[in-house]
Amino acid sequence: MQLEPLDKATLPKHIAIIMDGNGRWAKERGQDRIYGHHEGVLSVREVVSVAGEIGIEYLTLYAFSTENWNRPKAEVDALMELLVATIRQEVDELNRRNVRLHVIGDFAALPQLCQQEMQEAIDLTNKNNGLNLILALSYSAKWEMINAIKSIAQQALDGKINPNEISDELFHQHLCTHQFPDPELMIRTSGECRISNFLLYQLAYSELYFTPIHWPDFRREQFLHAIANYQQRERRFGKTSEQIQPSEHAPK
Ligand code: FPP
Repeated sequence: MQLEPLDKATLPKHIAIIMDGNGRWAKERGQDRIYGHHEGVLSVREVVSVAGEIGIEYLTLYAFSTENWNRPKAEVDALMELLVATIRQEVDELNRRNVRLHVIGDFAALPQLCQQEMQEAIDLTNKNNGLNLILALSYSAKWEMINAIKSIAQQALDGKINPNEISDELFHQHLCTHQFPDPELMIRTSGECRISNFLLYQLAYSELYFTPIHWPDFRREQFLHAIANYQQRERRFGKTSEQIQPSEHAPK
């Protein structure tokens, strides 16, 4: 698919992706799961470059969930090593592409080396003003929301806010994504149709796109296809179709 079919005016600003299916992709090829994660990195690279190229402003990738800590130790260790190696290898390319890296999640739970490499890459890319690449690492939405609630409750106890003033906006300010707009589009690969503790608050009005394609096969064409599909949807936010597109419903 070429870029032409995409309407530049209605591109989503923020796309979030649950990159799923690495393990099954590898098993289908008689390989071990780690091989699938390595191939998944190639999809990450391609999706990041296409996103930057077409002018997406924010791309959030669910790279490691809180629940992923429960996987076999060998796989967790391999994933952490892969993250470190990938970030080390890609930081120059991120700078060349004007990509700014961010991490959301329980940063302190990551191995020391992973924290160091991520922090270094965050610092080295923090002047870039192109695509914001947000890696969700040791992240879960329930963890994030409980932290937000604790912090708001503490402010109320300290007398800094009145509980009656707690609003959507205030809650947002206490989430790890407070500096980013909510995603307009959430993509999940591999045929699973669930949200799996990802951005539960921020996805309230996102368009959801599920594809049976496993993450290592999700490349440029599949990414553009998902965006084109999003652009065909009517986003009503609780309103009626007539309110959104009055001219189309006007009497002829
Ligand atoms: C889900 O597939 C994938 C993950 C838990 C890890 C995603 C990590 C990468 C793509 C590599 C590193 C990423 C970056 C950003 C450098 P799965 O293992 O759950 O697959 P399965 O459902 O088939 O078992």
